[in-house]
Amino acid sequence: MSLAEQIDKSKVPEHVAIIMDGNGRWAKQRGNQRIFGHQNGVNPVREVTEAAVEVGVKYLTLYAFSTENWNRPQSEVDALMELLVNTINGEVPALLKNGIRLQTIGDTNSLPNKVQAKLQDGIKQTSKCKTLTLILALSYGSRFEICEAVNKILTDFKNKKVNEGEITPAIFQSYLQTANFPDPALLIRTSGEERLSNFLLWQLAYAEFLFTPVLWPDFTKEEFFKAIINYQSRERRFGKISEQL
Ligand code: FPP
Repeated sequence: MSLAEQIDKSKVPEHVAIIMDGNGRWAKQRGNQRIFGHQNGVNPVREVTEAAVEVGVKYLTLYAFSTENWNRPQSEVDALMELLVNTINGEVPALLKNGIRLQTIGDTNSLPNKVQAKLQDGIKQTSKCKTLTLILALSYGSRFEICEAVNKILTDFKNKKVNEGEITPAIFQSYLQTANFPDPALLIRTSGEERLSNFLLWQLAYAEFLFTPVLWPDFTKEEFFKAIINYQSRERRFGKISEQL
């Protein structure tokens, strides 16, 4: 039985989030520049997107660039931005063909104008697609997002749209950039690192975590299927005990 066939289609996580890590090490192992690793990280993005569509995942969030990544050498930041523009440009027809809606989270205003324009174009062109929502986290940082939410709440308080004592988890989440998406049920991080790196701190409260030693450029559809099968073997109790489920 193939890996895809081993997946129980009635228990597929609705939202999968991935920290794509290890591009630099992958390139170094081959005696190449870091950007070579990023370039080879594009195909796995295609693979997991296709795999997500195949098994019926509805939302896929990819951590492509963090607020902290701006501190990398300028040449690497510039090359990554160039790669993003070219990739988004080239992938829109494939997104449309497969019913994939493009969305972003993060401080996208801080991205170069060229990247912003390509993103807006991709978002607009794919806005009616219904099969999968592909969310790119770009210049994303969870602490920034949470502070931004608090600032919006303070503005609404000043304008009497929200009152003291009224903030619940559900209301707070409606102020986050992910307000229109369900929380991820599964978080995958590649490259053997086991940390969150300021990614979706609020949204991952009840996610299952899966850490794999595979470096991102080596991540394949099969690795994605294996992660889903592993997820399906877990018992998600949400604070209850087994017998209550
Ligand atoms: C982390 O590896 C990876 C990134 C910071 C960039 C991810 C970008 C891509 C996969 C390019 C294509 C993306 C899209 C959405 C088109 P690292 O550089 O931190 O690796 P290291 O830990 O081995 O140094």
